[in-house]
Formats: sequence, C-alpha cells, structure tokens
Amino acid sequence: VCASAASLAFAEFPDKPITLVVPFAAGGPTDKIARDLAEALRKPLGQTIIVDNAIGAGGTIGSAKVARSAPDGYTLLVNHIGMATAPALYRKLSYKVPDDFETLGLINEAPSVVIGKPTLAANNFAELRQWIAANGRKVNIANAGLGSASHLCGLMLQSALKTTMTSVPYKGTAPAMTDLIGGQVDLMCEQAVNAVPQIEGKKVKSYGITSLQRLSLPALKDTSTLSESGLKDFNVQVWHGLYAPKGTPAPVLAKLNSALLAALKDPELIKREEALGLTVVTDERLDPVNHRKFVEAEKNRWAKVIKEAGEYAD
Ligand code: MLT
Repeated sequence: VCASAASLAFAEFPDKPITLVVPFAAGGPTDKIARDLAEALRKPLGQTIIVDNAIGAGGTIGSAKVARSAPDGYTLLVNHIGMATAPALYRKLSYKVPDDFETLGLINEAPSVVIGKPTLAANNFAELRQWIAANGRKVNIANAGLGSASHLCGLMLQSALKTTMTSVPYKGTAPAMTDLIGGQVDLMCEQAVNAVPQIEGKKVKSYGITSLQRLSLPALKDTSTLSESGLKDFNVQVWHGLYAPKGTPAPVLAKLNSALLAALKDPELIKREEALGLTVVTDERLDPVNHRKFVEAEKNRWAKVIKEAGEYAD
C-alpha cells in the first residue's frame, strides 16, 4: 500500500463513536476530567465520546483493557499518575508502561493538599512537621487504597520528611475522608478537587499545597506550598494523560493529537478544570514524544519511593 492509499484508508476516522476508558469510579477526579475532555473533543473529532468506567486495582484493570483493545483509535484511555506508578506497585502487571501504549499527551496537573483532622493542634506546616517528627509511626495517614493519588502523595511526603508514619488504606476517597473528618485518622494528602469542599466547610485543616505554585481557588489562595514552608522543591501532582493502544496507525494518532490540542484550548474546558483546582497543560508536554519521556521519568522517580516504603502488591 502506498502512503497516500494508507492515509486515505484513515481519512474517514473517526466515523463512529469513540470509547474513552476511565479506570476510576464515576464522580471521582479522573472521571470528571475525562467527561469534560470527552465533551471538548466532540467538536474537533465530530463524534460522540462514550465514557466507560472500568474500575479496580488502582486503575490497572481499565488500563489493561485498553492495552488489549484493537489499536484503531476507537478505544482510548485517560489515566492519572498511576500510569507511571503501576509497574512498581503491581509486580504482576499484565501490560508494559509505556511500551503497550501510544502516548497522546499530558492533559493537566492536579495539585494535592495536606489536610488534617479538625482537632489537630498544629496550626501550620512547621508545627505539623514538629508534631510528625515527635510522633512518627503513631501518626496515621489515610489513603484511598494502594496506588491511589493519596497513597502516592503520602509516600512522597514521608520520604521527604524522612519519617515513617502508619499508612491506613481505605476502599476509596470517601471513606478515608469520613474518618479524617471524624478524627479516626490524623492526616491525608488528597487532590485539591476532593479536599476543597472539606476545607471550605472547616471539616479538616489544611497545611500546604503539594505543587510548587499556590492555587488560585478562593479556599486555598492563602495556603502556602510545602516548598515555601520548608520542604524545599516538594512537588507532587496527580497529572492526567491520554493514551491509545500500541500500534494505532500514525494518521489516526495525528488526528487524535490535534483534537486533544484543540480541546485543551477550549475556554469552557479550561474554566471547568480551573474550578476543580487543575492546571490545563498547553505547552510542549502535549507532544506525544515528550509525554512518553515524562511517563518514563515519573516511573523511575516513583519506583524508588514505592520500593523504599515497601508498599506494593505482590
Ligand atoms: C480518581 O480519579 O478517581 C482518583 O484520583 C483515584 C485516586 O484517588 O487515585
């Protein structure tokens, strides 16, 4: 087949709805992002995007589903940082990262907030740090399960503080948050989108932003970053990316990538993402080659932290 015939064969792409697999529960941050993106992709692609929540095992079930799908551009994946951390967290992973995927680009970055139970005496990060140093393993840090955003952030926090606390895994963010509010656990490091309503309701205390920049959300605009508060260069963000199965034809990938670029410039999408405390990426990190390099770098950075902590599934 000559090149022009090959591209002609894909000229009609997409001529039917596209399925966007979300490996986390409906209503959670990744799901919200995927649904907003699906809406914004509709115009540049001229097709409906159907969101399919294939949940479980820290996002690895949905990711495996996409890795095994036909590489025709009609099944895509939105995943969070778990794309890069799964190989260290799940020793028996059925897919390779990033080799079993085509990386379409980074979508956004989602900073987290260190939050504490309402009765904690510490009033700022410096005081919290002293209290953690004095109490070590007696400090209970909640998370939404192995490989969740809160689990990863908690591991990085312990590594940066050179302290081991007690990780308390829950089956999702909601029960973890309920116990934090009730004081059964002391701390959690949760994505801004989930933490903000609790901070606004004064149900939890906030101690710092995990990205290098502060957030402009009203509830957090006066909250310092951990880096400003003495944990220099601390930077944990739950980024999201868009992926296709490995072997998807280049003309299809090119169409999907330019649709992604167009979607991320959509003012409505930007507004919605900012309201969730997310920063939409509009720079060179949207480039598939750069995103692949980024996934590899994150994979290496987190593998060390996960191994040190010894918190992974056999
Ligand atoms: C989600 O997007 O549903 C959550 O980020 C899952 C998680 O906490 O990792």
